[in-house]
Amino acid sequence: MVRVRHVLFAVVTSFLLINPANAQSLNPDLSEALLEHATSWTNQSGSVADISFSKTSVPDIYQVTGTFLNNASGFGCRGTPYQLVGSYYAGTQTISFTVAWSNSTANCQSVTGWTGYIDLSVSPLTMTTDWNLAHIFAAEHQISRGADIFQMYSTVTHNSLIPSQ
Ligand code: BTN
Repeated sequence: MVRVRHVLFAVVTSFLLINPANAQSLNPDLSEALLEHATSWTNQSGSVADISFSKTSVPDIYQVTGTFLNNASGFGCRGTPYQLVGSYYAGTQTISFTVAWSNSTANCQSVTGWTGYIDLSVSPLTMTTDWNLAHIFAAEHQISRGADIFQMYSTVTHNSLIPSQ
């Protein structure tokens, strides 16, 4: 009987620890701080997404707004900020955002959508995404695909993201 209880305990604890839906409850301070501040995320190509989260009327759903500075070589529209819009679901830390590549400096006639998740258990915070870039090549529509990993480096939010002891 004691052994059965031990096995049951192990199964329930493993489920709670590995289920991403419970990740937020592991560190509520961190996830609240994330949602209260403007955040800055840099990917492996040196591009920077500045992102703010605002509450919506739906529990746990946040509107995502900000700018994207593309610095990836081999692409157009680099070096100036483009508007970014999207959604964040706090229940599972999942996020999706898009950038239409037209501003007062350049128009690449293309749109990128990123979808992924934020890992609140690592330092610096990491956002893992896949992206689709819809564009025109040789007068034909094309969709290029890839993956970006962003890390959050932000002097503005850094201190508040460390939970108080
Ligand atoms: C274009 O060349 O049509 C617009 C710029 C696209 C930049 C892409 S979006 C996905 C990938 N990640 C980046 O940081 N930049 C490239």
